[in-house]
Amino acid sequence: MDKKISKQDKRLKGELEIPSDKSISHRAVIISTLTKGHYVIKNFSDGQDPYSSLKICKKLGIITEYKNDGELHITSAGELKKPSTDLNCGNSGTTMRLMAAIMAGQKFNSTLSGDSSLSARPMQRIIAPLSLMGAKIKSNKGTAPLEICGNKLHGIKYNTPIASAQVKSSILLAGLMADGETTVIEPYLSRNHTELLLSYMNANIKSEGLCTTVTKCELTPKEIEICGDFSSAAYFIGAALIVPNSKIILRNVGLNPTRTGLLEVLQKMGADIKILDKRTVSNELTGDMLISYSELKSSTIEKSIIPRMIDEIPILAIIATQASGQTIIKDAADLRNKESDRIKSVVTELKKLGASIEETSDGMVINGKTNLKGGVEVETYHDHRLAMCLYVAGLICQKEILIKDFEWVKISFPEFESLFSSLLI
Ligand code: S3P
Repeated sequence: MDKKISKQDKRLKGELEIPSDKSISHRAVIISTLTKGHYVIKNFSDGQDPYSSLKICKKLGIITEYKNDGELHITSAGELKKPSTDLNCGNSGTTMRLMAAIMAGQKFNSTLSGDSSLSARPMQRIIAPLSLMGAKIKSNKGTAPLEICGNKLHGIKYNTPIASAQVKSSILLAGLMADGETTVIEPYLSRNHTELLLSYMNANIKSEGLCTTVTKCELTPKEIEICGDFSSAAYFIGAALIVPNSKIILRNVGLNPTRTGLLEVLQKMGADIKILDKRTVSNELTGDMLISYSELKSSTIEKSIIPRMIDEIPILAIIATQASGQTIIKDAADLRNKESDRIKSVVTELKKLGASIEETSDGMVINGKTNLKGGVEVETYHDHRLAMCLYVAGLICQKEILIKDFEWVKISFPEFESLFSSLLI
């Protein structure tokens, strides 16, 4: 489905509730494979990626049922069933990397597969540590499909070469099935939803700085309420900051500090963003945000902040086209391993719109402030975040743009367009 976006001289006004966090949704359902008993998930994401995790859990014998009030009821026998077919992870890296750990510790064999984009993404980053724990995983030169021969696992102490929450979470989940202690040490802190959820469910887990240790234990099934997704909120934040005269309130936005690097960067760039209320749900910080159109200045983004805003770098690039001065993004080479090579795809498509932006080996350099001309067709590279970023860019282009294959937004945010329309007046 192609989508035309034009400036329409509208601004963003009003307020909305941000839909469920994708990362936490994955974890809330995947954890059922290590739990015995019944629990309820409130506000489970309706994105296609978390649904891939849910479908796999069902294939493994977890009973899942949506009740009328939208709550997802989960019942786990405490033992998984051997699946009769491949476990299809669709487009979801989180599903594949976390489920690989779970399958590695079973008494049966299984295969994890994915779509063409996921099948091209690096899996060696989890195969290496899981193999050190005793996992038997055959891959296609480090990529999916992963043929996993269930085995007994043992703990390790592992220094991850990249700050990746998927890698860290994979090792920690395997650690819950392993004999002995499992420790992961990261170069920089990545999102810590797995640690927070495990601690919420009374696991033996301890985090100190960059180091987290788990040991095998029984988890306590508990109601999990999922807050709104900061990464989804980022598109509204970005649009409100660059579309003149905008002022919006976003409700129930996840504010876990390991996810809100973008907020810190934007505040440094001069963004008028206020946090109205902060509370904790199921161990996660959440709150409301008030965002107003702002005159922005450039910034340099590097090192430890990168993993805390890894999914928001594409939208930051668009915001940076409207900030005065040169914005430099570096130490972000892992962006090349996402649903698309997000350094190349962002730079290529923003150039088409008229941005002054250049690719570097580990990031990009953006010169602002530019009037984006638009009047062209742009590609999404089958990447949901590219589709949403280009939509925001379309709101400030002088001429209408056409976004090809816009339907990829459904991977994380099916309500994206209807929510945006509700704010544009
Ligand atoms: C995620 C971690 C990040 C992020 C992805 C979701 C997660 O990936 O880009 O969208 O839920 O753990 P990496 O761990 O590969 O950085």
